[in-house]
Amino acid sequence: MTKVYVFNDFGGPEQQQMIDRPLPQPAAGQLAIEVRAAGVNPADWKIREGQLGRKWPLPAPMGREAAGVVTAIGEGVEGFAVGDEVLGAVASGHGGLAEHTILDAANTVAKPEEISWADAATLPVAGATAYDVTHQIELEPGQILLIIGAGGGVGRMAAQIGAVHEFRVLGIAGADKRETVEVTGAEFIEAGSGIADRVRAIAPGGVDLIVDLVGGEALHAVAGTVKDPSRIITTADPETARQLGGASVERTGEALAKITDVVKYEVVDPHVTGRFNLDDAGKALAAVEAGHTEGKVIVEP
Ligand SMILES: NC(=O)c1ccc[n+]([C@@H]2O[C@H](COP(=O)([O-])OP(=O)(O)OC[C@H]3O[C@@H](n4cnc5c(N)ncnc54)[C@H](OP(=O)(O)O)[C@@H]3O)[C@@H](O)[C@H]2O)c1
Repeated sequence: MTKVYVFNDFGGPEQQQMIDRPLPQPAAGQLAIEVRAAGVNPADWKIREGQLGRKWPLPAPMGREAAGVVTAIGEGVEGFAVGDEVLGAVASGHGGLAEHTILDAANTVAKPEEISWADAATLPVAGATAYDVTHQIELEPGQILLIIGAGGGVGRMAAQIGAVHEFRVLGIAGADKRETVEVTGAEFIEAGSGIADRVRAIAPGGVDLIVDLVGGEALHAVAGTVKDPSRIITTADPETARQLGGASVERTGEALAKITDVVKYEVVDPHVTGRFNLDDAGKALAAVEAGHTEGKVIVEP
């Protein structure tokens, strides 16, 4: 038997529980791993609340990204061997907040030695999304990228990717995140009332791209500062972005290998700020659900 953190029904955190279950076996196209670290994402509580549909069989294991050591290989999987150190997206029906889990081989890469387990666990969802959201519309060096939610898991990596491309990055975040935003090379803009005026003061001619990681009022408030509304890309609020003329992030198959490479060469640092033991998975989830995470939160068995 092996431990996995699940929710028993759609609803609040009271639905969460650690359970024991038989060791999961990989189906075709999958890899089994012994988990070394798993990333926590807003999607974990959104899925639990039923915000992303109710297709998950219950009890539903939690956690969508993980890193660990391969223990078994499903049919048709090539390029991996038992004992390999890998990082990847957790397969549907399984959860990363566990001692053992199952990854989609197509969305898994070898973990470079240079990347710690903790950092590796943040790349399959948050890191790969940061890569995709900053590449969907290509900017030229010197053009202005405005990131809403620049201090969070996706945002901090997106800001660093923007710096690599020599974009002028403006990062909107809460006051306590000034330093973490500025260390990426971005210009910090404090979130809250009057935000559009603060953006216009820095970018009077408008911004070239808005990467929105928050949605709702935070997106509405600055949407008028973008030169062309089709240059609003969101990971957080597809409906609002569409109403404003923008679009949702499109996830690509190449993002995971690309972000893994730049983290390996220390060009991007996932900035893990919260490390919890698997037994405290509920605390890790609560930290992310509170909505003010700096960098990434991970869980370690
Ligand atoms: N579609 C996909 O494939 C995909 C993948 C990954 C993530 N996502 C989504 O993308 C969003 C961001 O994910 P994440 O992992 O980066 O979340 P996160 O780590 O929880 O970070 C969210 C950040 O937003 C900041 N924030 C909240 N309200 C704000 C406001 N009004 N103005 C500026 N910043 C504000 C928060 O802190 P402060 O307010 O304290 O600054 C926090 O740092 C989530 O909605 C997530 O579900 C989608």
